[in-house]
Amino acid sequence: MFPQHPGPIGIFDSGYGGLTILEKIRALMPGYDYLYLGDNARAPYGPRSFEVVYRFTRQAVERLFRSGCQLVILACNTASAKALRTIQQKDLPAWDASRRVLGVIRPTVEEIDRISRTKHVGLVGTEGTISSGSYTLEIKKMYPHITVTGEACPMWTPLVENNEATSPGADYFVKQHIRRLLAKDDRIDTLILGCTHYPLLLPKIKENLPSGITVISQGEYVAKSLENYLFRHPEIERKITRNGTCRFWTTESAEKFSGSATVFLHYPVQGERISID
Ligand code: DGL
Repeated sequence: MFPQHPGPIGIFDSGYGGLTILEKIRALMPGYDYLYLGDNARAPYGPRSFEVVYRFTRQAVERLFRSGCQLVILACNTASAKALRTIQQKDLPAWDASRRVLGVIRPTVEEIDRISRTKHVGLVGTEGTISSGSYTLEIKKMYPHITVTGEACPMWTPLVENNEATSPGADYFVKQHIRRLLAKDDRIDTLILGCTHYPLLLPKIKENLPSGITVISQGEYVAKSLENYLFRHPEIERKITRNGTCRFWTTESAEKFSGSATVFLHYPVQGERISID
């Protein structure tokens, strides 16, 4: 059904947020080939139902497999929370059990016990990620002594998707949610950015946080975890091509994507428009 030859690592997100993960993965492992897919035309995924996030994510993963990827990273918490398990358990065995799809929640959660002293952790994410309870479940499984308090920030992804992350208008929404989160638990000393779009708001988030709170952006942890995974799974690593290239696909206009991705990545990006539904 899918090509059997080696291919790039597929990196998928609803939009631009996954670029924050791609950037860190490429910095750590520049030799591999990468294929980034942003479903910008249908972002944000945050407010969408389980059924819809699963359907969209499945289409994206299938498209990346068809184009030769053997391994796909869901660089999106909403997709990791709502679609990863079903894709791993139901779709992969039916498609091709030798392919892999990995998410971003587990690698992030693994780090928090080491970082938090008060064992009170805050989580910001999309409505979908927060209401799925996926982080709390994973954290409780690994570290039952940690208290997790979540805050959904529905405006944050649209601010990033619309290239408003550094505008004065973004301040209001950043401040509002940080204040609400800390009002729920004032012992929080660690804040997980549980949405790959949020590192693009990092300067504003830091400005509004009291000192002494450590902010966890996922990129570095996901990158390290992937490096470790490839080391432990040479049979997958062998199926990745190594020319140091990166292609960018978007479901929106190529021009729009190229402009914004260039701003976020600080190097020229040429996107290509594709259709996945
Ligand atoms: N960047 C994604 C995440 O990590 C999705 C944001 C959205 O599309 O709402 O959750």
